[in-house]
Amino acid sequence: MSFAFRLFPAAGDDMRADVLAGLAASPKAIPPKYFYDDAGCRLFESICAQPEYALYRTEQALMRERIGDIAAAVGEVDCIIEPGAGDCIKVRRLVDALRPGHLVSLDIAGAPLAAAAEALAHDYSGLAVTALGMDFIHDLEAAAPHLPPGKRLVYYPGSSIGNFPPDAATTLLARFRRLAGPGSQLLIGFDLRKDPLLLHAAYNDAAGVTAAFNLNLLARINRELDANFDLSRFRHYAFYNPTAGRIEVHLVSLAEQAVTVAGQRFRFNCGETLLTEYSYKFVPREFDALALAAGWQSKAGWEREGFAVRLYG
Ligand SMILES: C[S@@+](CC[C@H](N)C(=O)[O-])C[C@H]1O[C@@H](n2cnc3c(N)ncnc32)[C@H](O)[C@@H]1O
Repeated sequence: MSFAFRLFPAAGDDMRADVLAGLAASPKAIPPKYFYDDAGCRLFESICAQPEYALYRTEQALMRERIGDIAAAVGEVDCIIEPGAGDCIKVRRLVDALRPGHLVSLDIAGAPLAAAAEALAHDYSGLAVTALGMDFIHDLEAAAPHLPPGKRLVYYPGSSIGNFPPDAATTLLARFRRLAGPGSQLLIGFDLRKDPLLLHAAYNDAAGVTAAFNLNLLARINRELDANFDLSRFRHYAFYNPTAGRIEVHLVSLAEQAVTVAGQRFRFNCGETLLTEYSYKFVPREFDALALAAGWQSKAGWEREGFAVRLYG
């Protein structure tokens, strides 16, 4: 077994600065990358199992059915780079099909990533696995020394690209391209625009798991930034905005209240929102244009029930 883990320690300091800046802003907003403490990672896995959250199952079914075509289109690969790898489940299918020598997994949630990547390394004796606990928004370029030479494939599934507004998405995809280098490819999965009621339901599951995931952000801030959010005084509120083509996830204050975070006091009006996540939905042709602006040329694509996986080079 070949496994290495490296933790890039910037994330804690960034969280304090980002949360304080986000609460001082108008409207208030906190970046979604802070959802993923240990409890947040577990809640996200539970979201993927909810009947309303078709995105996860559909992507898995598409990958299962089309993996032969996908592997043929990708060709030979020496190294897979997976930003936001999470539980490292999805990449196993690609490893089976492409048989690369190396896998480099990146995630802001360092401890869960280390556990998942080590288990993967254990299961694939011929694969060298490097797990990097990093915020790729800040530290992506620091992954470069950990990449072996050869043909590289960036794998970015789960419609995680939808968390970024279009300009930021283009910037991130361009950074992936620079990191992976000349001749590299990008295999990316993203959710498509569809019936708004289906989208609305996916982020408002009946079991309340997405609500718990959203509110867990406040619990994390209470614990890690010495804050006193009263979770019962905030409502998970998610809706599809068809004009912008995105789900918006908010925490709405149910009362006029003041909250202290890291020694600073913030006021919420009754009904005031704290934006926690966007999840953009795409049209394949428009996504090709976004990828092209980042330097990625469209090579192939597959679709199933409102979800797309596309290959760029
Ligand atoms: C929506 S989950 C997707 C997980 C997995 N890729 C999948 O498709 O099921 C997003 C993952 O990206 C990670 N993540 C989010 N923002 C990140 C960032 N800025 N840097 C590194 N990882 C990040 C989270 O910790 C989480 O594991």
